[in-house]
Amino acid sequence: MESNKFAKLRQQFLCCYPVNKMAWSTLQLPLELDEQRALIAATCGHPLNQQFPVRRSYQEAFVKRLMHVLKDHDELHDDIYNSLCGQLAKTSLDAAPAPSIYAYKHYMLQSEEHITLRESTSFVCEGTTGLCTWEAALALADYLLEHPSQLEGKNVLELGAGTGLLGILLKHKALKLPVGQVVITDGSSACVKLMQENICLNFENDSDEATPKCAQLRWHEVKEFPWSQYAEPDLLLAADVIYDDTQFSSLLAALDFVYEMRSNRCEALLASTVRNVDTLHNFMVQLEQHGYQVTPCANVSCCKSHFCRDTTAAVQIVCIKRLN
Ligand SMILES: C[S@@+](CC[C@H](N)C(=O)[O-])C[C@H]1O[C@@H](n2cnc3c(N)ncnc32)[C@H](O)[C@@H]1O
Repeated sequence: MESNKFAKLRQQFLCCYPVNKMAWSTLQLPLELDEQRALIAATCGHPLNQQFPVRRSYQEAFVKRLMHVLKDHDELHDDIYNSLCGQLAKTSLDAAPAPSIYAYKHYMLQSEEHITLRESTSFVCEGTTGLCTWEAALALADYLLEHPSQLEGKNVLELGAGTGLLGILLKHKALKLPVGQVVITDGSSACVKLMQENICLNFENDSDEATPKCAQLRWHEVKEFPWSQYAEPDLLLAADVIYDDTQFSSLLAALDFVYEMRSNRCEALLASTVRNVDTLHNFMVQLEQHGYQVTPCANVSCCKSHFCRDTTAAVQIVCIKRLN
């Protein structure tokens, strides 16, 4: 009962949603001491966070913000102070070694199901942007959860998969999505290693078919990819890969290769955060020049969100087809 009361804040805490945007208004103030205790138990003390902790600086920011929200209370529960002191003590103990560049995030799905991912604590790490999960991947995940018929019996190949969230979601046991083989790929070897780790975190002892497959695929080396080891892809996914125009020609070459291999019997869903309208437009023009038909996916913005998404920047999802 208590944990339901704090379900939104718990969901946001576990995936490190920005503290200044959290659903603090869902708290019915004043909070009795036992409610304060229950809120800490649902967030910092949550078993997932105890086993696979979220970023330490995030936990500290969360507790400080909570103390601010409760500033007019005569008394704060000891667990609030203990959470903060625990974080600060760890920080000073670790003062000599550099803070960890990886931490965990937990994306809560329906009921108590979740995906746990190890992610980089910074946006660019080990020379790639792919070691943390971006809004476009969450938006595409929402879109697929709302339109599961788009996956019906399809073998999926993801390009630039980063942390692997989408592929792990598509094969999540509790969701029972009607998908075929799922192959998640990235050009960065650090991402491939991380995706593999994240697969292990979410699919303990599962059979080979029940888990996503993971491989390195650099777009400019698409011809060298061991295609015969995988099912022919029917659906390509790519999230937040349109930001660097020096990569456009290799991404287009990779798409051309796969569409030709499949005699155009495949399609792609491309999700992009609209940061620079010109960059996106430029890629769409190049897609059309390569003979693709680009259709915006209907009602993406009003798509129900299963994740805590920061919707400050819009995400555009398009479907890419090529007619014979
Ligand atoms: C901004 S990240 C997006 C990661 C993930 N799709 C997401 O939305 O969370 C872009 C990803 O594209 C990958 N990438 C960029 N250029 C690539 C290339 N030429 N070949 C393969 N992957 C590439 C990067 O390694 C990185 O993982």
